[in-house]
Amino acid sequence: MFDNPALLLDSSATPSGKIHWKSPSNIAIIKYWGKYGVQYPRNPSISFTLENAFTETVLTYEPKTDQGDGISLEFTFHTEENEPFRAKIVKFLESIRPIFPFLNQLHLKIQSGNSFPHSAGIASSASSMSALALCLCTLEDELFQTLQDDNLFDQKASYVARLGSGSACRSIYAGMAAWGTTNAISNASNDFAVSFSEEMHDIYKDFHDDILIASKSEKSVSSRAGHALMEGNAYAAPRYEQAESRMKRLVEVLKNGDVETFGEIAENEALTLHALMMTSNPSYILMRPNSLKMIELIRQYRADTKNPIYFTLDAGPNLHVLYPETVIHEVLPFIEQKLVPLCEDEMWISDWVGEGPEQLGE
Ligand code: PMV
Repeated sequence: MFDNPALLLDSSATPSGKIHWKSPSNIAIIKYWGKYGVQYPRNPSISFTLENAFTETVLTYEPKTDQGDGISLEFTFHTEENEPFRAKIVKFLESIRPIFPFLNQLHLKIQSGNSFPHSAGIASSASSMSALALCLCTLEDELFQTLQDDNLFDQKASYVARLGSGSACRSIYAGMAAWGTTNAISNASNDFAVSFSEEMHDIYKDFHDDILIASKSEKSVSSRAGHALMEGNAYAAPRYEQAESRMKRLVEVLKNGDVETFGEIAENEALTLHALMMTSNPSYILMRPNSLKMIELIRQYRADTKNPIYFTLDAGPNLHVLYPETVIHEVLPFIEQKLVPLCEDEMWISDWVGEGPEQLGE
């Protein structure tokens, strides 16, 4: 939908510049799990955009001296060359040349780094792919002034981020974002995410999402492989229906501030995601013993104190602990004393609903 063969530079043009974006990760409350076509979701999803887990990407561009027809890219991650990452990005840039045909005409340098340790077992594709997509849209706008409209800019950045990693399309927006057609949100689309921050109740605006690192090890099954296994999963069809009906219920409680129902849906979704992994063929388990211990402690603490503290999980072993700002003084000591000792090397990241991506060094 954004292919544009007109975006080519004159042969006399010698553009050069530097673009710098910081873009956050996000945590889905209704999970995207299962896809078709070019990164289209089998069901709608909605997430909080985070603040402290982010990627910073600097894109430097200059005219290409060798006029070959390929992508010319230098790449560093945390200031070090990284050939596997470079190869992945070259492949991605090649795939989006119909959208940005000028990519063939430039020499590019990408420097990227995450705010969280690479070894923390935290998926960085949402933050890194959204940061890259934002850099590319800014590049297009610097060269052709075609994305002056902020809504169009965000929509295109979200579309491009989606092609890199599905969940990345939601990171473009502050607060909350939804992706995938659903009757619950009238302007939702499979092509890009849309903002949901206007609609959400104030209680969620500074909600916490602390990330407790149950294991730093790399996942045994990638998200890409996990999505693919949904195609043979006996529970796939009812799951996609369930996601739609949970989306409807969730949108209601996001609007009315019913945190208890919000928490119930969040936990059910997390365990559904992992149940789908366990019922795939071959089946696999990404939770670790300490993930389960933390889940039990959170549920016990909630029963004892009536404090609204809930969990969700990504496609990995780490717990995301969700609670409103109003209970932080009571909840934080519980997290520090009971949950952090169960983390690998006591590693955890204090995070919360964030302001969305930011362009730096303008
Ligand atoms: O964006 P991907 O392809 O890495 O898939 C991520 C899927 C989950 O994180 C498990 C759920 C979601 O909606 O973010």
